[in-house]
Amino acid sequence: MSALLELRSLDKRFGGLHVTRAVSFALRAGDRLALIGPNGAGKTTLVNQVSGVLASDTGEIWLRGENVTQLSQAKRVRAGLARTFQITTLAPHFAVQRQIELALFEREGLTGRMWRNVDAYPVLQTEAQGILTRFGLRAHAATPTQDLAYGEQRLIEMALALALRPKVLLLDEPMAGVPKGDGQRLLDALDALPSDLAVLIIEHDMDLVFRFANRIVVLAEGTVLADGSPDDIRRDPKVRAAYLGN
Ligand SMILES: Nc1ncnc2c1ncn2[C@@H]1O[C@H](COP(=O)(O)OP(=O)(O)O)[C@@H](O)[C@H]1O
Ligand SMILES: [Mg+2]
Repeated sequence: MSALLELRSLDKRFGGLHVTRAVSFALRAGDRLALIGPNGAGKTTLVNQVSGVLASDTGEIWLRGENVTQLSQAKRVRAGLARTFQITTLAPHFAVQRQIELALFEREGLTGRMWRNVDAYPVLQTEAQGILTRFGLRAHAATPTQDLAYGEQRLIEMALALALRPKVLLLDEPMAGVPKGDGQRLLDALDALPSDLAVLIIEHDMDLVFRFANRIVVLAEGTVLADGSPDDIRRDPKVRAAYLGN
């Protein structure tokens, strides 16, 4: 099976700061890849490069056999790549269902035209309600997103990304800032992701990483320090020295 997403020697500098350096790895359908590394290692920068928030200085990004390196964020989404952000990015006053409907409208290329007139698209309304049910948010359909618990907001962000029907999903610290007690629904949502979806998750909680991932890439000072199975990574002396400690 060929790769769904391939990073080929990606580099990014911010002025004199060389943040990602010749980063290469690939994701296949069904992969659960955790990208780990110390704060400042370049993980978010890399996800920004892949999703098109940031232009790469050198290197290429291939998505489903297509070179998307020069494509806009929106075109990458349309090609099957979705992501969530480390910091929540919801529109605070929007009702939960409206946020989902907006994402669906965007997916269908209807944004800007008709989104106020949701009634004209009963199919999308029904789909939005189905997504809310799947994420246990049906009771909150009319709640402004700002009135939800932070963990629920992160859940909606994941729902929004999935509403785009991606082949590849990038999650930048979905559990960040979520109180321990509120995390279970997010964990359940992670477990319930479609099995053929390729998932890259940035996560600091090593229990979660080792439970969720079937592959781990360790980034240190912008370079790939190790890339392997959770067992390989756990045993890797370089990784233990640089990151996991002993
Ligand atoms: N837009 C930016 N301009 C300048 N420096 C940045 C920018 N974004 C990130 N950096 C720097 O790049 C390095 C990597 O940051 P980041 O990718 O956020 O790391 P991580 O997500 O692994 O914690 C840090 O030193 C950070 O300060
Ligand atoms: Mg980060």
